[in-house]
Amino acid sequence: MNSAGWLSPSGGAVWHLRALRRRRYWAGFISHIGAWLESWQHRCSGLLLLGPSAGWCLPDRFLGSFSRIHAVDIDPVAPWVFGLLHGRTLRRSGTLLTWQRADLFAELEHLLQAYPEHAILFANVLGQRALHQCGPGVAEAELGALSLRLAGRRWASFHDRLSGHWPRDRPMPLPIRLAAAESAQALARRVSGSGEWCDHLTTHILPADWPRLILPWPIGPGRVHWIEAGYIV
Ligand SMILES: C[S@@+](CC[C@H](N)C(=O)[O-])C[C@H]1O[C@@H](n2cnc3c(N)ncnc32)[C@H](O)[C@@H]1O
Repeated sequence: MNSAGWLSPSGGAVWHLRALRRRRYWAGFISHIGAWLESWQHRCSGLLLLGPSAGWCLPDRFLGSFSRIHAVDIDPVAPWVFGLLHGRTLRRSGTLLTWQRADLFAELEHLLQAYPEHAILFANVLGQRALHQCGPGVAEAELGALSLRLAGRRWASFHDRLSGHWPRDRPMPLPIRLAAAESAQALARRVSGSGEWCDHLTTHILPADWPRLILPWPIGPGRVHWIEAGYIV
């Protein structure tokens, strides 16, 4: 991982500039994520928000529904841009926001202990694990073990499953509801009959029997990320 977090493969300055340019283009995806977050019955007043960047895809309404949020990201710029995007809403809702610049994987045990009553949201961060320092085998095993470490907690994650080319003239499909886990191969067949997909090695993050939503995120012209979103019900 880039130690400064400024130019990491999944965040930092490049990510903020891209998000600023493309946020409107992402409007459909942001609204689907908003509706999904609204449907999450976590019953917690605090939120441990992991890898949120500046919250480009996180709705004010969801963030403002908490009385306390502790956010953790490696990106040093994230708190400042997050403040620009959401500060006003959080001041209005009286939400106390604290930040920690840290690697969530290294700090997870401490965080779970320090915030035992908080709901936990992995905010589109787990799909980039294989891009960072550890190799694919290590990343997949680590992600697959996460649900055991989180047993007994109210948690949710939305993360990349597949990414790749999408013809510019082809309309974005509607979200897909799945009752349980689906392999990367099965998901690739479902979303498109052809094309090469990058597998983000996130098949086993959510427990196999959790229902989930598969959302297309048109990240840029001609490219799509298929995002899986799920929470404990
Ligand atoms: C794709 S962005 C998240 C986008 C976010 N959901 C939004 O709405 O803007 C991924 C974020 O995860 C952060 N990140 C990546 N690996 C991390 C780690 N190991 N610990 C903490 N943050 C991490 C990056 O710095 C980046 O800000």
